[in-house]
Formats: sequence, structure tokens, C-alpha cells
Amino acid sequence: MQTCSRSEFEQLVENAAVLEGGLEGPRVYKLPGQKIVKVFRSKRLLSSNRLVPYALRFKRCAQRLIELGFNSVRVEKMAHCRELDMHFVVYPMLPGLSIRELDERALLQPGVAAQVAAYVASLHRNGVYYKAFHLGNIIVQEDGSFALIDIHSTRFYKSPVSIDRRARNLLNMFRYQQDRNIIDNDGVSHYFGEYLQASGLNAEHQAALIGKLKTSRAFPELKVALDNLNP
Ligand SMILES: Nc1ncnc2c1ncn2[C@@H]1O[C@H](COP(=O)(O)OP(=O)(O)O)[C@@H](O)[C@H]1O
Ligand SMILES: [Mg+2]
Repeated sequence: MQTCSRSEFEQLVENAAVLEGGLEGPRVYKLPGQKIVKVFRSKRLLSSNRLVPYALRFKRCAQRLIELGFNSVRVEKMAHCRELDMHFVVYPMLPGLSIRELDERALLQPGVAAQVAAYVASLHRNGVYYKAFHLGNIIVQEDGSFALIDIHSTRFYKSPVSIDRRARNLLNMFRYQQDRNIIDNDGVSHYFGEYLQASGLNAEHQAALIGKLKTSRAFPELKVALDNLNP
């Protein structure tokens, strides 16, 4: 972990565009040379960020994903800026747009939702619990393959992800209206059908997963779509 002074950081982002930010200030910058600077601040005094900085988790998660054969970013620099009480990572931008960005520009190919379902199933089969799973965090690269950004909270398990976590992960995306619309265009039953087919789960476990998804109080309408599925 390198150290970085306030003035060094200010110099780094001098000509950058701010891609994302919040009340605490800019969070994601794009540098002129197609690099991204992602900033992590500890919101609280007692934050797990102070034990294992999110920037370090981000770098480790990127490496693990790539080792497992999932595309992600390649972190080039990781630094701590004590004066600004934050850490940051620098990585080259992946050539491509997120699924949400493609949707906004009417560039989304039909069938992408089904590909996402098979993709998240393969993450789960490989023990990867990608907590930030939503369509703004999946980049479609030039060759059509997916790559993951926003990865610092990803968990890795030795065995396939549990049914509970799979259900939570699948439901997460349904919290976002834009993502729901994208899935709806291809059909929600189709989406879950593709997931189950690629899930590596036996019939009993598939039924258990569907049972959990159906009881979701947040999305009662899922029950109808899932009733059309026969694992
Ligand atoms: N490696 C990358 N390649 C392309 N775009 C990126 C990359 N990293 C970030 N972005 C863009 O920046 C946005 C925010 O980055 P992200 O890491 O998801 O931050 P946040 O924590 O704010 O969601 C993304 O939605 C995407 O548009
Ligand atoms: Mg994001």
C-alpha cells in the first residue's frame, strides 16, 4: 500500500471527470488516460474498512475473480491518503459499457438477461457471492463477454454458494426498477429458468431455491413467474 499526500491526490485527479459521488465527495473519477480512480472512505470511526481497507479488498477480489476465470479490473495502484482519511485504487477502464448504460442508449442486444442469469449461476457454482450484483456493475466488453466492477464486497467460498445466499443475491437485483424492466423484457420466468439450468443444483435444491424466492415479501409478483417453472 503506497501513501499519498493531499496535494498528490489533488494532482492525480486534477483533470479527471467525476463519474460517481455522494455527500462525502467524489467516489469514482475517470482520468484522461482512460483510468479509473475509485475512492473508499470510512464512514464511521469503527469501520471494518480500518481493519482491512476496502481498497485492499477490492484488489484481492479482482485477483481472485480473474484467477477463477471471471473478467474484472486489473488494479495498478493502491494508496492510503491519511490527510484525506481515505484509500483509493487506480485501474484501467474496461473497454465497454455497463448493461444499464447499454439499455439507456438502446444498444442492448436481446437475450442479455438470460446471459446474465447463466453468468450469475456460474459465479454461484464457483463459490462466488457477488454482493454488488446489479446491471450497473456488469460491463459488456467489446467481445460481448461480461466483466465485473464494484467488487470489494465479493465473498469467495470453497464450495458452491448456499441456497440462502443465492436467493438473496438473485433478489438483490429486483430492487432496481431499471434492472427489473430489462429482465421483464426477456421474461422473468425465462431468466430464472436459465439460472436454474446453469446453477449446478439438483432438483431438490432447485425447488428449495424457488421456494425461498417465492416467499419474498418485497416482490410478491415473482411468485407468478416462478409458478411457471418446473424444476
Ligand atoms: N473498469 C471500468 N470500466 C468501465 N466503466 C467503469 C469501470 N469502473 C467504473 N466504471 C463506471 O463508473 C461507474 C461507477 O463505478 P462503480 O465502481 O460501480 O462505483 P459505485 O460504487 O459508485 O457504484 C460504473 O457504473 C461505470 O459506469
Ligand atoms: Mg457500481
